Amino acid sequence: MLNLFNIEKDSPVQHIVSECLKKRNIRLSIKRDDLLHPLISGNKWRKLKYNLQHMQATNKTQLLTFGGAFSNHIHACAGAGKLFNIKTHAIIRGPNLDINNPTLQFAKQCSMDLHAVTRIEYKQRQDPDYLTQLQARFPHAYIIPEGGSNTYALAGCAELTKSLPEHDYLVCPTGSGGTLAGLIEGSLETTQLLGVAVLKQAEYLNKEITALSKKAAQQSNWQLLTQFHDGGYGKFTRELWQFCQTMQQQYNLPLEPIYSGKMMYALWQLIEQDYFASGSHIMAIHTGGLQGLDGLKYRGLI
Ligand SMILES: Cc1ncc(COP(=O)(O)O)c(C=O)c1O
Repeated sequence: MLNLFNIEKDSPVQHIVSECLKKRNIRLSIKRDDLLHPLISGNKWRKLKYNLQHMQATNKTQLLTFGGAFSNHIHACAGAGKLFNIKTHAIIRGPNLDINNPTLQFAKQCSMDLHAVTRIEYKQRQDPDYLTQLQARFPHAYIIPEGGSNTYALAGCAELTKSLPEHDYLVCPTGSGGTLAGLIEGSLETTQLLGVAVLKQAEYLNKEITALSKKAAQQSNWQLLTQFHDGGYGKFTRELWQFCQTMQQQYNLPLEPIYSGKMMYALWQLIEQDYFASGSHIMAIHTGGLQGLDGLKYRGLI
């Protein structure tokens, strides 16, 4: 029987003290979900928690998912497999795998089976016929989509809001939209939610978010900010990386430039543009992903 509750120490909330905030009479706090657990951090644990419970309820004993070679989700699923003694499989966008990359090395150390596929096959990852074939090939596997965003993931992200001190704004980085949709589900209608899209031309995510969350479809207390992608998914300017390093030095806040750094950089710009009303309390979610720094270093990108 899995003990799914043994990582449930809650993560701390860090308060940022800065002149820039003080003079605008704004409070900024960071929910440090990156500190939830060394193997499964950030929104990955929030997304996996109820999926693992559902896996157990449906009598599946293995986990199968999809991702790129540097994926935070692959890293987290491998970590969960190790922690809870679940056999894990990953369909990795290939065709060739550099097994020495830090994410895949970690996955291998956690005994995850890596199945490299061509880009054409990888494109079928949401195709019902392809998923049926995969289920036949891995009959004991519970299949989780790329990035982990599904109904069960939403419940975990909604639950996160219950552990937050009172706030006016809730901000998160947005890739597939699952985290933002879950946060909308869990929030009061008086909270303003902002998702910082980390990819280019992300307007289509508005539809995905409203499809995932009933509340998102009915309420207007949330917004997807699409102008802070900094070049697109996985791309970032020198300025953004410099900002991440400054946040580490000045506030002891570790950031990577793909998700948490992009969100914080956007947030900081909005603060400087007086986007937030005086007296407001902003809560930003650090969704983890710091393992990605090793991959960026490995590729010489930072
Ligand atoms: C560290 C991190 N933060 C944020 C996100 C974006 O979350 P979502 O895909 O739910 O929008 C991801 C991707 O799943 C991620 O790996």
